[in-house]
Amino acid sequence: MRDKITQKTFNPLTLEKKIEEEKQGTAYHGNSNDESEKLAYIETYGCQMNFSDTEIVASVLSEMKYGFTNDESKADVIFINTCSIRENAESKVWNRLKSLKQTKKNRPDLLVGVLGCMAERLKSKLLEQEKLVDMVVGPDAYRDLPRLIEEAGGGQKAVNVLLSREETYAEIAPVRLNTNGVSAFVTIMRGCDNMCTFCVVPFTRGRERSRDWQSIVNECQELVTEGYKEVTLLGQNVDSYKHLNEATGEVCNFAQLLEKVALIHPDLRVRFSTSHPKDITDDVLFTMAKYENICNYIHLPVQSGNSRILELMNRGYTREWYLNKVKRIREIMPDCGISADIITGFCSETDEEHEDTISLMKAVKFDYSFTFAYSERPNTPAAKRMKDDVSEDVKKKRLQEVIELQNLHSKESNLSEIGKIRKVLIESNSKRSDNDFCGRTDQNKMVVFPKKEGLSFGDYCRVKIREASSATLKGEIVEE
Ligand code: SAH
Ligand code: SF4
Ligand code: F3S
Repeated sequence: MRDKITQKTFNPLTLEKKIEEEKQGTAYHGNSNDESEKLAYIETYGCQMNFSDTEIVASVLSEMKYGFTNDESKADVIFINTCSIRENAESKVWNRLKSLKQTKKNRPDLLVGVLGCMAERLKSKLLEQEKLVDMVVGPDAYRDLPRLIEEAGGGQKAVNVLLSREETYAEIAPVRLNTNGVSAFVTIMRGCDNMCTFCVVPFTRGRERSRDWQSIVNECQELVTEGYKEVTLLGQNVDSYKHLNEATGEVCNFAQLLEKVALIHPDLRVRFSTSHPKDITDDVLFTMAKYENICNYIHLPVQSGNSRILELMNRGYTREWYLNKVKRIREIMPDCGISADIITGFCSETDEEHEDTISLMKAVKFDYSFTFAYSERPNTPAAKRMKDDVSEDVKKKRLQEVIELQNLHSKESNLSEIGKIRKVLIESNSKRSDNDFCGRTDQNKMVVFPKKEGLSFGDYCRVKIREASSATLKGEIVEE
């Protein structure tokens, strides 16, 4: 039974989300029947993979007969699923944990646990040094939650931060939280082997491993049966997905997986995130072009437009390689949306090198970008070997420039939609008015349009675009 309580929607294509905006408690009561003795509250920060992990955690807890609440004052156990990607992501969580410590003073039976990337990175610091929480559980240890909760309930501090080379939670059916009943996330791989020098993920998530394709296809099939219309396949670098069936010797790569998922149902939209410029293949692009239900949209983080900085970042491609990839994408799919992640002020970046990022943006004209000032993360290769020597002011100034340029490009890209008719999957009511629906185009642009009788969430419709701002499109439903 999957109860759909809230209609919180978020852009499923954004692996990385601004932490300030990305805190949400669960609002799922699917299991809170008479059998449920205890209630759990889970708050999630960070990327979509963390949100997806929260659904695994919910599944493990519901096996333990936990119910769920979105009112933390009613909870017997509170879990905070955390992110370490930038310093401010962690400081938010530190503040949250400090306030929970106060709450615990008045409620001695309340258990508090830290999950996810901060649990992995900070391990015992959270338990021993700061004595903030009762449980510290890393991203590969969620199967161990029953034991850890019992240990913590018995008054011991409970910790499991072992990283695994195999764990993919393949057969754990996620409990969909905060779902709109239309779009779901399916994790296809875990960890990352890329070792971009600025990035903490290889340390918090461990080695890359791919989930059995059959279990991915089964999960997507199950979602279709439940009425879902869109899946987003998630991984830190989906293009290096590779599953080997030891028994049969059969290998499945990302292009093949995409095809298998696309073939499940022609009305199931297939999206994925994140692609890596060094690994995305022509095979993937041709598969996208071949199937109408694989969305023409690629999130292709560039990080910098300067080849020296890209080398220092260990990204494995140059500016020219990236520009060629974009050219190739547009040759194969002229109508493909492309977005990026960009970091400003990485170690030793000069004004001229920053200008290369600006000129790359002008050459590509991304439909959207997620932009960040470089934040040094302890123990990463950059922290060990390089100096974080661009001042905060300069990082911020460069960031501002990048944001302003992106806004201009987003607006241009949206204005070019005016007059076009796009197929839109209705996802929810518009935030502003219950008289309007909102949904996204194939290219991942959000469109708001007046409702029409007979249509509801999960239906497709054709929308003629009438207006555009840098953030949204407005339009109206047209007949075929
Ligand atoms: N696996 C994805 C990115 C995951 S992290 C990829 O490789 O594309 C999401 C984004 O956060 C990154 O693309 C990067 O732009 C940003 N990021 C990661 N570490 C950062 C750091 N130390 N400082 C600033 N931004 C960072
Ligand atoms: Fe981090 Fe690079 Fe892996 Fe992305 S590909 S998660 S940026 S190490
Ligand atoms: Fe995701 Fe943040 Fe961890 S971006 S993988 S939750 S460090």
